[in-house]
Amino acid sequence: MASAHGRFIRQIRLATGADGSRYPFTLPAVRRLAGPGGLTLPPGVTFLVGENGAGKSTLIEAIAVAAGFNPEGGSRNFRFATRATESDLGDHLILTWGIGRPRTDFFLRAESYYNVASEIERLDAAGGGPLLSAYGGVSPHERSHGESFLDLVTHRFGPAGLYLLDEPEAALSVQSCLALLARMHELTAQGSQFLVATHSPVLLALPGATIMEISDEGGLEQVAFDEALPVRLTREFLGAPGRFLKNLLDSGESGAARGSWH
Ligand SMILES: Nc1ncnc2c1ncn2[C@@H]1O[C@H](COP(=O)(O)OP(=O)(O)OP(=O)(O)O)[C@@H](O)[C@H]1O
Ligand SMILES: [Mg+2]
Repeated sequence: MASAHGRFIRQIRLATGADGSRYPFTLPAVRRLAGPGGLTLPPGVTFLVGENGAGKSTLIEAIAVAAGFNPEGGSRNFRFATRATESDLGDHLILTWGIGRPRTDFFLRAESYYNVASEIERLDAAGGGPLLSAYGGVSPHERSHGESFLDLVTHRFGPAGLYLLDEPEAALSVQSCLALLARMHELTAQGSQFLVATHSPVLLALPGATIMEISDEGGLEQVAFDEALPVRLTREFLGAPGRFLKNLLDSGESGAARGSWH
């Protein structure tokens, strides 16, 4: 029976002894994991937000590797590799696991979804069971990017699962983001745990989710929905696009304008 509150990974800490002078150990968000308590994950959904380059993908990928996933994505049974781009951070992370094992799992990186799709096709063609039906019955290569992603979360994801997702909104329309939100809500009620890096203010609205924000200074703190940077910025922009753009474009330099958003 699935527990009502999925909490498979409870805590993530950086082991002592890592070389602090090179990537990824120089990233403030990574150094933060060496501090007392590291990063605690609550049951259900945790979002990671922060500007481009803040370290979200580095963190999610390393947590995935430490949890036993293939660095390029897929379930923990996937073992393909097209190009090693992952850092060795995963070897230096200590995960504290909760009681009970996930019934299923998936790690998804927007950047390598194409390769995951190819691996699904290859495994299906190699036999050993009708794998494609678990993904909605159609090869991901014969669906649009967004369609195949929704197939994945609708058909392949299930109750009591552990899901690590890096920018799942990359392929999705706003309407499809809302469909993903609803599916995440359903799976969380069925005992699943999610860790999701996102820039989507729509996804962040998921009720009951915890939002952890990597600040420009490298802090990693919980923020409320209304305070999260993607929400504040999108709200400010949509509230008065004309005024917003005037400020941005009149400043003559996007970097300078960016400073005024914070
Ligand atoms: N292999 C690498 N070697 C050195 N630096 C790297 C490497 N990969 C990433 N970085 C740097 O580490 C930082 C964090 O990158 P990361 O991809 O984790 O950011 P992110 O928060 O996921 O950004 P985005 O929102 O753009 O996806 C960036 O400044 C990036 O340039
Ligand atoms: Mg990223």
